[in-house]
Amino acid sequence: MFEQWMRSFFLFLAGQRLLNRLAKKVGLHLGARRFVAGESLSSVIQVAKQLNDQNLLVTMDHLGEFVKTNEEAEQMANHCVKTLHEINHNQVKGNLSLKLTSLGLDLDPEICQKHLTRILEVAEQNQIFVRIDMEDYTRLEKTFAIYQALRPRFSGFGLVIQAYLYRSEDDIKRLSTWKTNLRLVKGAYKESAKVAFPNKSDVDENYRKLIRLQLAQGNYAAIATHDPQIITYTKQVVKELNIPLDHYEFQMLYGIRPDLQQKLVAEGERVRVYVPYGEDWYGYFMRRLAERPANVAFVLRGVFHR
Ligand code: FDA
Repeated sequence: MFEQWMRSFFLFLAGQRLLNRLAKKVGLHLGARRFVAGESLSSVIQVAKQLNDQNLLVTMDHLGEFVKTNEEAEQMANHCVKTLHEINHNQVKGNLSLKLTSLGLDLDPEICQKHLTRILEVAEQNQIFVRIDMEDYTRLEKTFAIYQALRPRFSGFGLVIQAYLYRSEDDIKRLSTWKTNLRLVKGAYKESAKVAFPNKSDVDENYRKLIRLQLAQGNYAAIATHDPQIITYTKQVVKELNIPLDHYEFQMLYGIRPDLQQKLVAEGERVRVYVPYGEDWYGYFMRRLAERPANVAFVLRGVFHR
């Protein structure tokens, strides 16, 4: 009950534009540095290289939410292009994750698609994969529509499927037509019981089902979770279905369970760390707090023990 209240509270805070603006002004504080690699591109490249040195792959995400003008969306797209060039230039073993709202999805899906096209062209030239993060349910259809429109032209990009949604099993079957590379997650947004399982145990059960389905279909699966039980389950399915090592990977967020990341690497698994960076860290940070009250305790310790 308390956990549910905390989750709703932090997800509410995540959506507050005023606080987002304020956070941008004060810079990386309140313990956010544990989850956000830095504010500049050079700082994230440095972190990425350090992770690579530990045999971890990365996916870099330039944080940006609440884009209000086409100019802002274009700036975000420019930044993604710059990030791709820097990944290539610095020989980072990594790829790019992005959110379509940061490219103007809410303003005009056509403009968003135009920006994504430009990013995918540069990504293709540099042979870097691009992951489109999945946002809340209201953006799902628009995200699929853009994927469908661009998939015939580009193969080096993929989507995210959220296990809390009832429809995800059907979506995975449909997306198999294009052999879609999928990141599978539990889901991070507050959704209505009309579209998403309200009980965590049902989400976990569906997550297992979706992992098995994507792997059995022979399509690439990035299992993005910190849940040891799900990780163990994935390893069982991989063994049972004889899935080759280059058909799947584990993904975790920067700053969360680095011990588990290292353990998996030592076992020979492919592990990718999601490394967010940029001045627009507020919404991302609030969602991490919503996920886990223990993170709040950590943050409070950081605030008071300076
Ligand atoms: P869950 O929160 O259910 O916890 C299960 C167990 O995992 C815990 O009991 C604990 O053992 C361990 N654990 C979880 N969090 C921990 C922590 N902070 N510290 C220590 N242990 C912890 N969502 C989305 O909607 N769209 C997206 O595009 C993405 N993208 C994405 C990328 C990557 C790389 C990751 C890892 C996650 C996402 N997510 C996401 C977020 C995802 O939907 C989900 O909210 C979080 O991963 C939390 O769920 P878990 O599966 O980690 O476990």
